[in-house]
Amino acid sequence: MTIYQFLLLFLLWVCLPHFCSPEIMFRRTSMPQKRILGARVPRSDGKILHRQKRGWMWNQFFLLEEYTGSDYQYVGKLHSDQDKGDGSLKYILSGDGAGTLFIIDEKTGDIHATRRIDREEKAFYTLRAQAINRRTLRPVEPESEFVIKIHDINDNEPTFPEEIYTASVPEMSVVGTSVVQVTATDADDPSYGNSARVIYSILQGQPYFSVEPETGIIRTALPNMNRENREQYQVVIQAKDMGGQMGGLSGTTTVNITLTDVNDNPPHFPQNTIHLRVLESSPVGTSIGSVKATDADTGKNAEVEYRIIDGDGTDMFDIRTEKDTQEGIITVKKPLDYESRRLYTLKVEAENTHVDPRFYYLGPFKDTAIVKISIEDVDEPPVFSRSSYLFEVHEDIEVGTIIGTVMARDPDSTSSPIRFSLDRHTDLDRIFNIHSGNGSLYTSKPLDRELSQWHNLTVIAAEINNPKEMTRVAVFVRILDVNDNAPQFAVFYDTFVCENARPGQLIQTISAVDKDDPLGGQKFFFSLAAVNPNFTVQDNEDNTARILTRKNGFSRHEISTYLLPVVISDNDYPIQSSTGTLTIRVCACDSQGNMQSCSAEALLLPAGLSTGALVAILLCIIILLVIVVLFAALKRQRKKEPLILSKEDIRDNIVSYNDEGGGEEDTQAFDIGTLRNPAAIEEKKLRRDIIPETLFIPRRTPTAPDNTDVRDFINERLKEHDLDPTAPPYDSLATYAYEGNDSIAESLSSLESGTTDGDQNYDYLREWGPRFNKLAEMYGGGESDKDS
Ligand SMILES: *[C@@H]1O[C@H](CO)[C@@H](O)[C@H](O)[C@H]1NC(C)=O
Ligand SMILES: *[C@@H]1O[C@H](CO)[C@@H](O)[C@H](O)[C@H]1NC(C)=O
Ligand SMILES: *[C@@H]1O[C@H](CO)[C@@H](O)[C@H](O)[C@H]1NC(C)=O
Ligand SMILES: *[C@@H]1O[C@H](CO)[C@@H](O)[C@H](O)[C@H]1NC(C)=O
Repeated sequence: MTIYQFLLLFLLWVCLPHFCSPEIMFRRTSMPQKRILGARVPRSDGKILHRQKRGWMWNQFFLLEEYTGSDYQYVGKLHSDQDKGDGSLKYILSGDGAGTLFIIDEKTGDIHATRRIDREEKAFYTLRAQAINRRTLRPVEPESEFVIKIHDINDNEPTFPEEIYTASVPEMSVVGTSVVQVTATDADDPSYGNSARVIYSILQGQPYFSVEPETGIIRTALPNMNRENREQYQVVIQAKDMGGQMGGLSGTTTVNITLTDVNDNPPHFPQNTIHLRVLESSPVGTSIGSVKATDADTGKNAEVEYRIIDGDGTDMFDIRTEKDTQEGIITVKKPLDYESRRLYTLKVEAENTHVDPRFYYLGPFKDTAIVKISIEDVDEPPVFSRSSYLFEVHEDIEVGTIIGTVMARDPDSTSSPIRFSLDRHTDLDRIFNIHSGNGSLYTSKPLDRELSQWHNLTVIAAEINNPKEMTRVAVFVRILDVNDNAPQFAVFYDTFVCENARPGQLIQTISAVDKDDPLGGQKFFFSLAAVNPNFTVQDNEDNTARILTRKNGFSRHEISTYLLPVVISDNDYPIQSSTGTLTIRVCACDSQGNMQSCSAEALLLPAGLSTGALVAILLCIIILLVIVVLFAALKRQRKKEPLILSKEDIRDNIVSYNDEGGGEEDTQAFDIGTLRNPAAIEEKKLRRDIIPETLFIPRRTPTAPDNTDVRDFINERLKEHDLDPTAPPYDSLATYAYEGNDSIAESLSSLESGTTDGDQNYDYLREWGPRFNKLAEMYGGGESDKDS
C-alpha cells in the first residue's frame, strides 16, 4: 500500500463526519496551555510560551483536474477547535491562487475551486490558512500552510513527434527484421495510474509488418517480401494509453516503409532468338546491333555482363557490354564474306555482375539467347590473286614480251568482268603496258638494268560494269642482269717507266670495273692486245693485273711514250671485253727508281687535253720556233760579217713584240754597231722612235775607247738602259754585247732568259728540224746553218 493510498483512506475516514468532505481541523494539542495564534505571548507566570507543532496536521487537499460541473468544485474545509460555531471566527486563505482560483467561506472554512484546473498546467498549489477572531481580529490559530494537490485524470492522448516516418528495409528480409522504432509521448502523470502507459498497435500495414506493443519497434512480419511486387508500404501505428485498455486515449502515426533492392532476380532475355543483319563489307569493329536482357532488380543488382558462349560465329563476332544502357553490342571481329557464308549463329549469355550469395538458391543469375546474324551481299571490288606481285625479267628481252600476268576476280556472286590498267604515275617512262583483258604485263620499251633495277608498278583492276569498284595492287618488276657491258679500266692510267728499268719490273697495277652485276660476282681477265717485246701483263687473278717491263733499259730519246693496249674481258655470258690503253712515259730515274725527269712531250701532251688546248700549245711552239729561227739567222749573219753591219742588216735582227716598230726608216731605234764595235762610238743622236717627256741629257760617259774592259762597258750600258726613262719598250730585244763566234752562251738576249733549265732540252729543235731549216732558209740561213 503506497503512501497515497494510505492517505486517501485516511482522508475518507476523516471525511465521513462531514459528509465526506475534506476538512482540516485545527485541534488543540495535548498541551494544556491556551494556544494563542501569532507571535510568542508572555504568560502570567512570566514564562515565554513557544508555539508547538500539533501532533498531526492534515495539510494536504486533493483535487481532481478537469472538473466539468457547473458549480464551484468543493476542495475541503478548514476548521479550528476554537470555532464554537457562533460565527466569531473568520478563516482567511492566502497563497497560490488564493482568492481567485481558490476561495474560502470565511465563516465555514469551506474551500472551493472557482474553475477547471489542469494538472498538466500546474500540479501543486501551496496555500496558507489562518483563523482570526472576528471581533478582535486576532489570530486564534497560528497560520498553517497546506498544499492542494491536483489529481491526474487521463486527459492527454499519446502523441508521436513525427506525423510521418520514413524507413526502409531490404526486400526478402527474414521475418522479424527490425525496420524502425516509433515512440509516442503522453503528457499525463506517469507516476499515477495508467494515464501515461502507452501500448502500440498496428492499424494498417498488416500482414506485412508488426509492432512491438511495449517498445514501438516495427518489424517485418511476412517472409520473402518482394520489392519487385510492391516497393512502398504505408504502416499506421496507434499508441494508446491506459495500457491499451478500453477508454484509453490514442494517437497514430504513419510510417512509409520502402523495400530496398537485393539481387534476387536474374537477367532475362525477352526473346529467345534475336535476328541481326550486317553487310559483308562492314569493316572489323563495326557494331551490327545489340541484345538486351532485362533484370527486375535495380542499380548494380541489375548490372549485366554479356558474352558469347557458343555458336558457329564465335570467330567472326564479338560482344561488348555497354555500361550505360546495359546492352550487349555485337561487333564484327573478322572480315565477312557473303559469298562464303551467309548466316552465323551465336549463343549469347547475360550474367549479373553482382550476385548475392544469399540468393544463390534462387537459381543461376544468367540467361542465354540465340543471335542469328544474316550477312548481306554488297557489290565488292575485284580481288587480286595475290597481295603483291614480283616479276623478274632479263634486261635483254625484246620489246613487247609478256613479263608476267596479274589475276583478279570479282568476288560477288554475279561475277563481273574485270578490266586491268596500269597506274601511269608508277610508270612515267611508259616502259610497260598491260593487256586490259587478261592482266598480262608486257614491255613497250627496252629495259636496262644499269639504268633502273626496279620498276615498281601499280596495277588497277576495275569491274567493267561498275568501274568505281576498283582495287590496286603493287607489282614489283626486278630487271635481271645480262652481261651487256664490257669491263673497263677503273681509272685512267698514266704511268712511267724508268730508263734504267730491268726486265720484270712492276710499272703499274691495273684494275677494272663493269656496270653489270653477275650473280657470281665479277671476274676480269687481262691480256695484251698483241705480243709486245717491251712490256708484259700479269693477271693477278683477283680482278687486278700487273704491268711489267720486259726488256732492259728504255730511252726517252728513242721513244718517249709507249701506248700499251690492254684487253680486259669478263667471264659472263656473252663474254664482253674492251681494250684500254695505258700511257707509259719513259723517264729518267735515280738508282732507287724515283722519277727524275720525263719526256717533255709527255708532259706537254697529257692524253686528256682537248684539241683546243693542243692547238694552243702548237701555236706557242710555232711562235717559239719562229723566234729561234730568227735568231739562228741572226747568228749566221754574224758569222759572215762579224763587225761592220749595214743598217739594213740590222733591221732584220730586231724583233719586237708589242712595240710598234719604226718601220723601214727606224734605223736608230737601236744601234747595235756601237755595241759590236766600241770604237765606232759616235755622238749620241736623240732617238726618233719615242718623244722624250723630259729633256734627256745624254750621259754617255767618256769611256776609254780602246783599252776598256768589255765587262765594264757592258755593265755601264746595262745601267744606262735601266735608268733611261725613254728606253725602248720594255720587251724589246736588246743586245748588250757581242761575244763573237762560237760562244757557248751564244747570246745574252733577253729572249732566251729563263730557258736555261737543265731539264728542258730543246728536243723540239730536233723534232721540228725540217721545218726549222725551211724557216732558216727563208731568213737566208739555209742548210749550211744547221749547226746553229
Ligand atoms: C508516404 O507514402 C505516401 C503514399 O505512398 C506518399 O503519398 C507520401 O508522400 C509518403 N510520404 C513521405 C514523407 O515519403
Ligand atoms: C593476254 O592477251 C594478249 C593479247 O590478247 C595475249 O598476247 C597474251 O598471251 C594473253 N595472256 C595470257 C596469259 O593469256
Ligand atoms: C621497289 O621495290 C623494291 C622491293 O620492295 C625495293 O627494294 C626498291 O627500292 C623499290 N624501288 C623503288 C624505286 O621504289
Ligand atoms: C719496243 O721498243 C722499241 C724501242 O726500244 C720500239 O722500236 C718498238 O716499236 C717497241 N715495240 C712496241 C710493240 O711498242
